[in-house]
Order: sequence, then C-alpha cells, then structure tokens
Amino acid sequence: MDKLVVHGGSPLEGPLTVGGSKNTALPLMAAALLADGSTRITNVPNLRDVRTFSNVIRVAGPAVTFDADANTLTIDASTVNHPVAPYELVKKMRASFYMLGALIGRCGEAKVSLPGGCAWGPRPVDLHIEGMKAFGADIELEEGYVLASAPGGRLDGGTFRLDPSSVGATINLLLGAVTAQGPSRIENAAQEPDVVAFGEALKEMGAQIDGLGTNTIEIQGVDALTPASFRNTPDRIELGTFMLMAATAGAPGQPVEVRRGTHEHLGDDFKERFAETGVDVDYADEVVTVTRPETLQPVSIETAPYPGFPTDLQAQWTVLLGLADGTATVTDTIYDDRFKHVPELQRLGMEISVEGNTATVHGGAPIKGAQVMSTDLRASVSLVMAGMVAEGTTHVLRVYHLDRGYEHLEHKLQDAGINIHREEYEEFDEPAAEPVS
Ligand code: EPZ
Repeated sequence: MDKLVVHGGSPLEGPLTVGGSKNTALPLMAAALLADGSTRITNVPNLRDVRTFSNVIRVAGPAVTFDADANTLTIDASTVNHPVAPYELVKKMRASFYMLGALIGRCGEAKVSLPGGCAWGPRPVDLHIEGMKAFGADIELEEGYVLASAPGGRLDGGTFRLDPSSVGATINLLLGAVTAQGPSRIENAAQEPDVVAFGEALKEMGAQIDGLGTNTIEIQGVDALTPASFRNTPDRIELGTFMLMAATAGAPGQPVEVRRGTHEHLGDDFKERFAETGVDVDYADEVVTVTRPETLQPVSIETAPYPGFPTDLQAQWTVLLGLADGTATVTDTIYDDRFKHVPELQRLGMEISVEGNTATVHGGAPIKGAQVMSTDLRASVSLVMAGMVAEGTTHVLRVYHLDRGYEHLEHKLQDAGINIHREEYEEFDEPAAEPVS
C-alpha cells in the first residue's frame, strides 16, 4: 500500500497545472455507450476511477482503450451485448451507477448493482430509480441489483422532480431520456458544470436537450445517437484545491500560478468567500494567480448545489480555517457525514469541533506532523494540505483514496516546491489469534 510523506515548511512556489475533470470524464464515458461506433475523449485524467469505470464498461461489451500518456480514451461501443454492471466493480465507485441510464438508453434493459447498502442509503439512489420509473422503466430490486427494462425496448419519457437536486440522478436520467420515444422533463435538475458539459456532449451526438445549466431540463427523445469526439473540461475541484494550497502553503506576498483551469466553474460563492479571506486573486484566461496574505481571515462557508460552495472543497477549506486568525465554521448541507477528515486534522493539532453537519474551527493552533489516515478522496487531499504547512513530517496513509481523483499529485507538488514523496508501506495485519494455551 502507498503513503505520501510530506516534510512541512517549504513554501509552495508553483506553478501548478490543473488536469482533466474526473466528474465530467465519467459521464462522458457513459454517454459513449449510447452510440453505435467509436467515441474519443481527450484531456482524460489517468485516475483510479477512470480505470475502474473503463472495466465496468468493458463488461457490457464495448472495447475501451486508454492512452494514459496522451490522456486520451477511446470507447468503441459497436457491441453492447451484456447489459450488466457487476457488484464487485460498482461497489468500488458509485458513478458506475450511470450504467443504469446508459444501458437502458442503448439496450432497453439493465442489471446494475446498487452502489452500496440499499437504494435508500447509506449511498441512496432512490432518485435515480424513481426517475427512471417516471420515464417508463419497469424496475425490480433483487439480491442487491436493480433490474430495469423498458417495455417494448424503449422508454416512453416523462416528468420527474428531483428532491434533493442530484448530480448523479440528473446525469442518469439524461442518459435514459435522450433516446426515449417521447419528451421528458427533469425538474430541480443539477446545474453543475460537469452536468452542462455532459449535456452539451449528448447534443453533439444528436440529442435534443434544452435548459442545461438551469433547474429545468427538457429532452425530446431521438431514435439513436451518433458517436462524436470530445475534449474533457478541466477539473474545477482540482483548481479550487490548488488555489487553497496556494492560500495556505504559499509564501505571504509571493504569487502562485494555477494553470489550465476554468475559474467560471468554481461558482461565485466560492470566489466571494475566497476573496474575504484576504488572499489576492487574479482571474485571467486559464491562469488563476493567488497570493497569500500575511494574515488569513476566518470566513465561514456553507455548501450548496452549484453555483453554491462546492461540497468537494469543504475539507480543503477547513485547513485554511486552521491557519486563519480567529474562529469560523464549515457547514455541509449536501452530506451529513462528510467530516471524517476532522479526527485526522485534530491529530495534526488543529482545534476543530463538529456538531451535526457543522464543523467549528479555532484557527492558529500549531500544526505538527504526524501519521494520519485517508478516509475518502477529498479528506485525503486536506491531510496533504495540512502536512505542507505542518512543522515536521506527516505520513498520509492509504493514498489509494487520493489516487481516485488526483493525477500525479506528488509530482505536481514536487515541481512546485513542496518536499513530498510516495513510499510503499505495510499495514500491520490483524493481530494473530492468541494461541490456545
Ligand atoms: C457527485 O456525486 C460527485 N461525484 C460528488 O463528488 C459530489 O460530492 C456530489 O456530486 C455533490 O456535488 C461525481 O460526479 C462522480 P448527488 P453524486 O447525487 O452524484 C442525495 C468527489 O469527491 N441523493 O448530487 O453521488 C445524496 O445522498 C465526489 O469527486 C439522494 O438522496 O451526488 C446527497 O446527500 C464525492 N438520493 C445529495 O443527494 C439519490 O438518489 C447530493 O448527491 C441521489 C442522491
């Protein structure tokens, strides 16, 4: 297993370069299944989740090739002859559930494992299922799988209101609706840039969609889609992560460049809160320049669906608050249990308390290196951020979580001035059973 070893204290000089978006690449890959032929996607990051989803798609029949050096992925979906997404792969990555919409949209049937637990939790997909039913699918739940079929091989189309709004359900329902017989409408739809870029790609393939980027999306079903080639968007969460690294690990007064991101995809709420911390930010075309101030102001945030503050940046924001001059809070309204990074940040010395879905951070406590454990993707990058500013050395364990969503992170940080490297390590096995005396 791998860990990242970070020796704190060397300033982040930059520049840092943003890669392709994980959360746009995954739905683009699902869209490729809707068309009989070959789809090429460029600017695809070489991530665990991309490799996992490639394996999920291969099970259904398509040929998937990934040129990791060129960040180019090709999916030949001429053959989709096994509309199944198996548990052992779906449980590795929730977004595999997009196979429900892709397989129903292409084959009129699907057998897809639930991502975890039951449909109603802990990682619910009830909106995906109820929405597909509203569009005309027959759905049964059997032995942890969703068995779906469109009577006559094609969905009718229909209207469904998402409550709460859901990125994944919006994507899945679009995948099912674009080849339905009649019109469909998704109300309270997600407006995230990932969803808009995905919808625009479907239109390139011949889908008829209006209202992308608003809370109501109208679709007119077509008989079939045609393959196309796409360039994936830059990763907005990696952009935000790098900006927060510059604000915390940059040398005060020294500008740090973050390149090749699309800053419009951050949403105004993040930009406004970020400015309130006292950082100096210049937003130019494809370069965001961040200069850390002598003193960071404690600014409270509350996550919300786009264009609100992204939940995928709240763990990273917590580290900024640990360095700020005062007390502030982080409230996550999207998930009620996304604070698994807090005990690990406390091990590094940060003073944080959690009450319900709000974390209160008292900034200024000394941060000292320690061994810490990654628990999920964005939590693990917050531990690396804290290690970059800690006194001494931090060992971030189980970085397979981080490898799901950040491509070559340690190399990017090394090139930008940070003393960090990857090491293999063994975790102690469970203690051997006591010998029977
Ligand atoms: C997407 O997950 C992202 N993943 C997540 O990023 C991100 O945190 C999330 O959107 C919110 O922005 C990908 O794009 C692959 P949701 P998704 O459905 O689609 C509830 C990362 O770090 N809900 O918008 O799974 C759900 O429990 C990942 O890159 C239902 O109740 O998120 C949550 O509270 C982590 N029923 C809320 O909606 C459902 O059927 C929003 O979830 C579906 C969701």
